[in-house]
Amino acid sequence: MDVSLDGQTAIVTGASRGIGAETARQLAAGGANVVLAARSADRLEAVAAELSTYRIETLVVPTDLREESAVNELIESTVEAFGGFDILINNAGLSRGSAVADLSTEEYETIQETNVDGVFFATRAAIPYVREREGHLVFLGSFAGQYPRSFNPVYAASKWWTRGFAKSVAAQVGGSGVGVTVINPAEVRSEFKATDGRTFRAVFEEGQASEPHEIAETIVFAVSRDRSSLSEIDINRRDKFATDF
Ligand SMILES: NC(=O)c1ccc[n+]([C@@H]2O[C@H](COP(=O)([O-])OP(=O)(O)OC[C@H]3O[C@@H](n4cnc5c(N)ncnc54)[C@H](OP(=O)(O)O)[C@@H]3O)[C@@H](O)[C@H]2O)c1
Repeated sequence: MDVSLDGQTAIVTGASRGIGAETARQLAAGGANVVLAARSADRLEAVAAELSTYRIETLVVPTDLREESAVNELIESTVEAFGGFDILINNAGLSRGSAVADLSTEEYETIQETNVDGVFFATRAAIPYVREREGHLVFLGSFAGQYPRSFNPVYAASKWWTRGFAKSVAAQVGGSGVGVTVINPAEVRSEFKATDGRTFRAVFEEGQASEPHEIAETIVFAVSRDRSSLSEIDINRRDKFATDF
């Protein structure tokens, strides 16, 4: 597939590792300027350094998505550097704990503030700019946001919220030419933490779950549609429906 995102600018949240870092690489390979946001400044700088092999510009903006003012600064720095932007990838997200009965208030709030508040702050601030350029909004949902999940209801609910929010935002911005896509991965071999605290990269051998680059390629495919929205894409390991999920 030949992708040309030449001249476009994309903000990727959670770009310091995993799906976000891989998405930044794939967007840059497609010709887009990339704004990298997450909390780990050193990791963002390392990803940006890798992207210097492409003929694109990068901007590193260390950002805690839970802070409204930090998210507004991310958008303002992007506009200052690039005059606007075309694409927001709402990728940053995490899980904490497991059963509701054992979840601390702190764990609950961490999930809500990151997966819900952060997505709201970024989307709200981005809408005027993606409208201006008839760009794209992408949301990382999850398989967990599509089916009941006995082992992590609060994380699952945050992803049901993401999908519901994205679809209604699509109803608001589609008339202005903005594409909106929800991507629903199942297990991906990143540093995302399983309920026992191990990363999915440690839990799954190569070949047992999706790889971050597969999700990133799917995201880039979605944002490179010219006039259409790919509303929702499910991408999961091939044995997903053969297992007890
Ligand atoms: N891996 C999976 O199996 C899977 C499946 C379905 C959906 N997803 C979703 O895919 C997205 C990416 O996950 P991943 O697998 O790539 O996980 P990951 O490797 O753990 O990466 C998560 C990213 O989110 C960033 N982040 C976390 N809290 C943040 C905050 N407060 N402010 C800014 N950035 C923050 C992290 O950066 P810093 O720590 O540097 O801030 C990191 O870059 C998430 O929304 C996740 O829910 C993942």
